[in-house]
Amino acid sequence: MKEQIEKIMAELSELKCQTEKEVEEARVRFLGKKGEITALFDEFRTIAPDLKREFGQRLNSLKKEAQTRIDALKASAKSTTVSADSAGDVTMPGDPYELGSRHPVSIAREEIVSIFRKFGYDVAEGPEIEDDYHVFEALNFPPNHPARDMQDTFFVSVGHPNPLLLRTHTSSVQVRTMEKMQPPIRVVCPGRVFRNEAISARAHCIFHQVEGLYIDENVTFADLKQAILLFAREMFGADTQIRMRPSYFPFTEPSAEVDVSCNICKGKGCNICKGTGWLEILGCGMVDPNVLEASGIDSKKYSGFAFGMGVERIAMLKWQVNDLRHYFENDMRFLSEFSSAVNV
Ligand code: PHE
Repeated sequence: MKEQIEKIMAELSELKCQTEKEVEEARVRFLGKKGEITALFDEFRTIAPDLKREFGQRLNSLKKEAQTRIDALKASAKSTTVSADSAGDVTMPGDPYELGSRHPVSIAREEIVSIFRKFGYDVAEGPEIEDDYHVFEALNFPPNHPARDMQDTFFVSVGHPNPLLLRTHTSSVQVRTMEKMQPPIRVVCPGRVFRNEAISARAHCIFHQVEGLYIDENVTFADLKQAILLFAREMFGADTQIRMRPSYFPFTEPSAEVDVSCNICKGKGCNICKGTGWLEILGCGMVDPNVLEASGIDSKKYSGFAFGMGVERIAMLKWQVNDLRHYFENDMRFLSEFSSAVNV
């Protein structure tokens, strides 16, 4: 019996099982009703009483060892079985990868830019961190104009005669273009802009603009109106009407704000246009001669117009989105709605 116990002990320590099935077979072999260890316990009843104590202890520890060994093998077989199955089962559904799509703000920006490209405009870009001169000074902002106030502008440096700031509009790119080029100038300036505003359904501290500038001899307000009308019809549909309301910008004179006829109710009045039949899309005007002169362009010889629009606003009107914040939340359910909207 002693040899048998030792033999089983040795076998147990060398026992190897790959699968749960093999572990179960080993358990039956050693500990099952007709198992080798169970058989030793039966034999134990027949041995001489003076040997019982010694063999009882040996048998108990053998049984314990077998149970521990089998439990351990079972646990490791389980973990390897799981990974072997998941790696090997080719019928399992794959991990879903959601197909991305262009962001609606990108789609709208590209559409706006491509319309003006068709009209012969180039694209100009400039820095997002600008200086006061290019954002305000060169654009005829009087020194105490409210837009220079800390309320609207994120300053990067203060206490400097020409502080650095985050541009509040891309008109700064128009200034940089005029500094570099002589007319004829025809550019659109798409880009990100920053204003220190509370975030709401209608406003955000970061948004996108496309501004435009056209300077040549004999450019008139009629040219401006025609350019905006053609743009509005390309963007919102061939039957779109525009109207211009007098407005004020330091860098244009005269200045106007432009509304388009509501493309949802066709001018009848709905909750998107707040019952007016009109939607405001952009600001524009004839470039102030002071602005031309500040950048080295002869205002006696040349005239021009400028306009600027918010890309999110155009996108909201085009796709009837009622909350600007959707554009910044990256919710796939919202973004995927636009996967088929690319038509440029
Ligand atoms: N720069 C103006 C703004 O950001 C828009 C504008 C551009 C108005 C050009 C008139 C002419 O609000």
